[in-house]
Amino acid sequence: MAKPVRIAPSILSADFARLGDEVRAIDAAGADWIHVDVMDGHFVPNITIGPAIVKALRPHTAKPFDVHLMISPVDGFLEAFAEAGADCLTVHPEAGPHVHRTVQTIKKLGKRAGVVLCPGTPEDALTYLLDTIDLVLVMTVNPGFGGQHFIDGQLAKIARIRRMIDQTGRDIDLEVDGGVDAETAPRCIAAGADALVAGTATFKGGAAAYAANIAALRAG
Ligand code: DX5
Ligand code: ZN
Repeated sequence: MAKPVRIAPSILSADFARLGDEVRAIDAAGADWIHVDVMDGHFVPNITIGPAIVKALRPHTAKPFDVHLMISPVDGFLEAFAEAGADCLTVHPEAGPHVHRTVQTIKKLGKRAGVVLCPGTPEDALTYLLDTIDLVLVMTVNPGFGGQHFIDGQLAKIARIRRMIDQTGRDIDLEVDGGVDAETAPRCIAAGADALVAGTATFKGGAAAYAANIAALRAG
């Protein structure tokens, strides 16, 4: 049976000068997970958040930290993010020499393991990981920046991965990231997504609008 859709606001679109307050605000507004976009200026053309910031934010919410690692090589940073308070660590297959080993390391650290596919990465990359991982993240923009336009062609990939997950019989979350708003969210859900990342669409309009923004995404 389909799970209720979880909403994971990306704090990439928050006010970085007031990150603790912003995390409290989206928690109060109904966020299910807090999506943390970690970028290194090498794997993607932008630099954002490191483990020290994740650690500093940890006391501000009890909600799970859904940490999307856009860093390469990723393996040397898994422990630091786990210790900082990440609940799920999600990695790109291109971000290290052996993604299966990376997933094993995340599980050994006692964290949920996710694998994320860029728009150009086919779903076949998941075939021999689905017996271990807890989450698949499908990027509907190229990674690096918030506020980009949703790539429609990824909906077919979401639907295919939905079928692959269902065939395993395992409890694996199917999350979508990039350009998700009140118009594209229902299309992601119809394709089989059960978790949605949203930066721009969550944080628009200031804190007074966050609850309505999140509700509009869930309504899909
Ligand atoms: C992009 C990030 C996304 C991004 C989403 O590399 O992974 O999480 O912040 O932002 P919006 O919702 O604005 O597309
Ligand atoms: Zn992300």
